Amino acid sequence: MTDRAFWKSFSGLIAALVALTVVIFILAQMVGGRPAKPVEATADAKAVAERIKPVGELTVGTAPTEKVASSSNRVMDAIIPSANAAGAEDKGKKIYDASCMACHAAGVAGAPKLGDKANWGPRIAQGADTLHTHAIKGYQGKAGMMPPKGGNMSLKDEDVKAAVDYMVGAAK
Ligand code: HEC
Repeated sequence: MTDRAFWKSFSGLIAALVALTVVIFILAQMVGGRPAKPVEATADAKAVAERIKPVGELTVGTAPTEKVASSSNRVMDAIIPSANAAGAEDKGKKIYDASCMACHAAGVAGAPKLGDKANWGPRIAQGADTLHTHAIKGYQGKAGMMPPKGGNMSLKDEDVKAAVDYMVGAAK
């Protein structure tokens, strides 16, 4: 074999090898070229976000006025401890509007008017228990006759008490 012939076949071999390398490279790109999604990386990012998130978050919206008792938000419970009381007051007002207002709004038949401090003062002085009893069982006073439960016997004692408390609150 002459040198010339050797170099010819040798460079042919090199060219073939280079071509093979390119083919293998392309095949490798097709099969496993794209790296799999870095799953751990995203999980890490979540964990980091969890760790560095602020301890408190501000919630913008209306404060819950009802069913605070069932709220899992201890911060709101601490800020508005009166929310439940407000709920009871609401109940009292509703019952007053439905069953007591007929007489107590205008002072019909001697009923002490809602918010009339002078009239309610001595009555409140009797104590809440007496007022509750008079409202539930009925009461004949100097001014007139307070019918039991305001005449609405379907009311529960608690309802009447709530209405009385509402009326007492309005006269303070
Ligand atoms: C039919 C009219 C009438 C209705 C309805 C009525 N009341 Fe009265 N209420 C009176 C009158 C009259 C008096 C005043 C009695 C008196 O002191 O002479 C009175 C007095 C009261 C008093 C004061 C009792 C006291 O010891 O001084 C309370 C409390 C009261 N009512 C609660 C209620 C509640 C609560 C309701 C509704 C559930 C209600 N009333 C519905 C007529 C009414």
